[in-house]
Parts: sequence; C-alpha cells; structure tokens
Amino acid sequence: FKVPAAKNEPVKSYAPGSSERIELKKALADARSKVIEIPQYIGGEEVFSRNKQKVTPPHDHQHLLGYFHEGSASDVTKAINVALDARQKWTSLHWEQRAAIFLKAADLIAGPYRAELNAATMLGQSKNAYQAEIDSACEIIDFLRLNVNFMRDIYEEQPISSDGVWNRMEYRPLEGFVFAITPFNFTAIAGNLPAAPALMGNVVLWKPAFTQVYAANVIMKVFKEAGLPDGVINMILVDGPIAGDVVFKHADFAGIHFTGSTKVFQTIWKTIGENITSYKSFPRIVGETGGKDFVLAHKSADPKALATGLIRGAFEYQGQKCSAASRAYIPSNLWEEVKSLMLADLEEIKMGPVEDFSNFVNAVIDEKSFDKIASYIEGAKDSADTEIIAGGTYNKEKGYFIQPTIIQAFKPDYITLCEEIFGPVLTVYIYEEDNFEQIIPVIDSTSPYALTGAIFANDRYAIQYATDHLVNSAGNFYINDKPTGAVVGQQPFGGARSSGTNDKAGSVLNLLRWVSPRAIKETL
Ligand code: NAD
Ligand code: ALA
Repeated sequence: FKVPAAKNEPVKSYAPGSSERIELKKALADARSKVIEIPQYIGGEEVFSRNKQKVTPPHDHQHLLGYFHEGSASDVTKAINVALDARQKWTSLHWEQRAAIFLKAADLIAGPYRAELNAATMLGQSKNAYQAEIDSACEIIDFLRLNVNFMRDIYEEQPISSDGVWNRMEYRPLEGFVFAITPFNFTAIAGNLPAAPALMGNVVLWKPAFTQVYAANVIMKVFKEAGLPDGVINMILVDGPIAGDVVFKHADFAGIHFTGSTKVFQTIWKTIGENITSYKSFPRIVGETGGKDFVLAHKSADPKALATGLIRGAFEYQGQKCSAASRAYIPSNLWEEVKSLMLADLEEIKMGPVEDFSNFVNAVIDEKSFDKIASYIEGAKDSADTEIIAGGTYNKEKGYFIQPTIIQAFKPDYITLCEEIFGPVLTVYIYEEDNFEQIIPVIDSTSPYALTGAIFANDRYAIQYATDHLVNSAGNFYINDKPTGAVVGQQPFGGARSSGTNDKAGSVLNLLRWVSPRAIKETL
C-alpha cells in the first residue's frame, strides 16, 4: 500500500512584499468587491432558496459579502436520498481512487485556492492572515493528506494467518450515511469532519455553522474540482434543530461527526438515544466539544515564556479556539513580573479589521457572542471578588471588537475560572508559591472540561507531578508551551470529560470510527 509520504504543510510568512501577501491582498480585495450567492450543494446540484441570509464580516458588519440560501427540512430529506443513492458506487470505489480525490483537494488548497480560502476565512470569520494560514491552509491540507496515510495504516493492519487458514479484515464503510456538523471557528475542522468519513467510503450530509458558510462554500468548490462524485458530500444550510429532526429519525443514520459546544452535543446525544430503536445500526457518535483550558505555572517557571504563552494562548483569534488558555494559576513569586510583561505585550498588540495585517486581534464572531462575552466582563467589573487587570472595554458599532481582557479572581471558583466564555478573556488566580500541590485538585475540579492544559516549570519534579496529577484534566497537555496550536500528525487533538469523545481528529483513532470491520476466515 504505497501512498505519498506524510509531511506537514509549511506555514507561509506573509511578510511585507512577499508574493503570498500580494496574492492574499488581491483575493481579499476581490472578495470585498462582490456580493456572492452561496447555495446548498445537494447531489452535485447548487440549490437556491427564497430564504436568503446576509453574510457580513464580523469586523465590518455593514459590509455585504453575499447571501447564503437557507434550506428547509425537505432539503435534508433530499440530501439523505441522494447520499444513499450515491452510496453504492462510492463504496465500490477502490481506496486508492478515494485517496486520490482528497490528495488532489489538498493540492488545490495548497496551490490555486490557498489565497481564496484564506481570504474567505479572514473575512467570514475575522481571522488575521497568520491565523487563517495555519487553519484554512496548513491544517486542512494536513488533515486531507495525513488521513490518507492513516487510512493506509488501518487497511494494512491484518490478523495472523496460519497454515491452511487465511484470515483477513475488511474495513467496510458504515451502512447508511454520516452527519457532519461543524463549528464556526476552524475552517480546517469544517473541511475535515465531512472529508474523514467520506475518505473511509461513507456518504455524508454536512451542516456548517451559519457563521462559517463563506469559507465552507470554497471548500465545496474544491471538493468538486478535485473530482468528488456528486452526492458523496452534500452541504445543507439548514438550522441545526430542523436538520436534526429529520436526520436523527432516519433509519439509515449511521453516525455523527460533531464539533461544537458541549450543550448542543448533549442535546444531539439525547435525541439519538430517544430514537435508538429506529436505526438499522448503532450510530457512531463522535463529538469534540467545549473547553476551559488551563495554564499552570510553577514557581520555577520562566516568566517571559509564561507571559508570551498566556498572551498568545489566550488572545490569538480573540480567544475563540476551543484550546484557548482561559484560566491561569500563577505562583505569587512570579505574578508581578508576569503581569508587567503581559501588560507590556498588550500595549504592543493592535486590534482592528483583518485587512490591516498588523492587527493581532480582530472581531469576535457575531453579536450574540459579543453580548455574552461582554456580560462576563461586566460581571467581573461589578464583583468584589475580581479586579480587571487589562482591557475590559468593547464596542460593536462597526465590528464586534472586544479588548483582550485579563481578570484577576480572588476566589478559585469565580465564574470566569469555571465556565467557557469563548472570547478574549483570561482569568488569573494567584496562589501562594509553596502551594503548588494544593492548587492541582482545584484546577481539576472547578471545571467539567478536559480539553487542553499546560504546565510552565523548570523543575522536573514539578513537571512530573503536574503531568501525573492532571492526567484526566486535558486530552492535550503541553509542557512549557501555550495550550493551543496542535498540529495534525504531531499532537492528535481532542478532549475527555465534557470536552468530547476524545477520538483525536486527524488520526487512526478517528478514522476507525467511520468503518465497520468484517473479519473473514478462509480455509485454504
Ligand atoms: P455551536 O455548538 O453553537 O454550533 C456548532 C454546530 O452545531 C453549528 O453548525 C450549529 O449550527 C449546530 N447546532 C446548533 N444547535 C444544534 C442542534 N440542536 N442540532 C444540530 N445542530 C446544532 O458551537 P460554535 O459556536 O459554532 O463553536 C464554538 C464551540 O465549539 C465552543 O464550545 C468550542 O469549544 C467548540 N469547539 C470544540 C473543538 C474541539 O475540538 N473540542 C473545536 C472547535 C470548537
Ligand atoms: N487544533 C486547534 C488547536 O490546537 C484546535 O488550537
């Protein structure tokens, strides 16, 4: 089984004067100069509706980028039918043919579509050029290419045979269709969640977040140009509960590939449970959900590395990464120095629209998010248990801008140390420097999540102690690094507890969820 060797896509720098910067600026200007129509894609057809919704950049909400055509329950039924019709031919295709399609999709994104997809992510989701590049270029390319290698590894894994007996394993696609539901914050996740089950031979309905359709539309164009047969991945633009009401009652529903909030995933799981007797097979339930990701510093930590890790971990992409550092536990001996280093960094950081490449911070995704984040900040301003160390201001006149905000909480169970906020808000708790061992159970018990976490320390005993005692608190654990920025194939990503089923996107573990193995014994 020979497939192209896996390697990660290099990150382009977009330095002033570079050809990639010129190309990206042109793609941004092109996109801003037109108003596009975004259809649903069902069975290869572009489906338009009378229910058109505006698409605007979060950092400039009066500028119209286009309209997406919202679908209805009947579109969901149609999409299921065309997917099931496409299934027989798709499952009969040899794995090499499927691999070639997704490898070509990766090449298209790496080459001719790179600027367009990055520009769509920048405008539609308000990501700066670097954040777009690591997401809608490198990470999606890595998912597509590396998954082909992981698929090869799965197919190669064969049982032992003996004299006169040939045993083999077939990794069959699931019987039915898979439903992929994706969040707004990563274009790579939006692309991977339908692509991974399809690579393993499944047919898919894909429902992107309404706040991410601008880039999702480009992904569908790429899949089509890469030669994906009609009906294999169908993009429906239907409200989640309406789509769910059709999908989760269908006998051929075979699996859900979800990324989004914990609450929505719990609702979906419950609905599947209620309908369990309706299905031909037990559906695969895969979900990566929320986080309340921590940074723990030991008194031996390097203050500069810690301050940089906190600023980047908490405020890149406005704290809207599921992995974002949103609570930090800092020993008293380091606090004054770390605080002044962070404040100095924040002085340098610029906030504004993505079109100005010097802006580190852009807008949060929409008004609902803006209001929710602002209410946490207002709560902290009104509380006697906190002090605002930095930021605390916000403005939604032109775009949904929130200053990077640092709250110091004086109680370890203060609300912003426990709940997912999903915005540029970092809460710090200062513990007495000799109480390192006592702070660990506090971190472990004050939030239900277990997505990412980090320890900053130079003392090896402290590193080992934190690694051992926070074993269930994070699916991705970092030593002396920020808790964001997992790279496909290097740090397989996913969390436990209320953060999801921990099936590690972009890995053998994830792809195995999309197959139904058959063991065959032949007596020779
Ligand atoms: P969300 O839960 O609001 O929406 C996610 C998707 O679910 C969207 O497509 C939405 O339309 C759909 N949806 C909403 N209600 C539904 C329902 N009842 N039935 C079916 N579908 C429904 O999340 P979001 O705001 O788009 O993304 C942010 C959340 O995603 C955060 O909680 C973040 O931590 C999480 N996230 C997790 C990971 C991870 O890998 N663990 C990665 C990215 C984002
Ligand atoms: N892969 C993303 C990160 O690690 C979610 O930040």
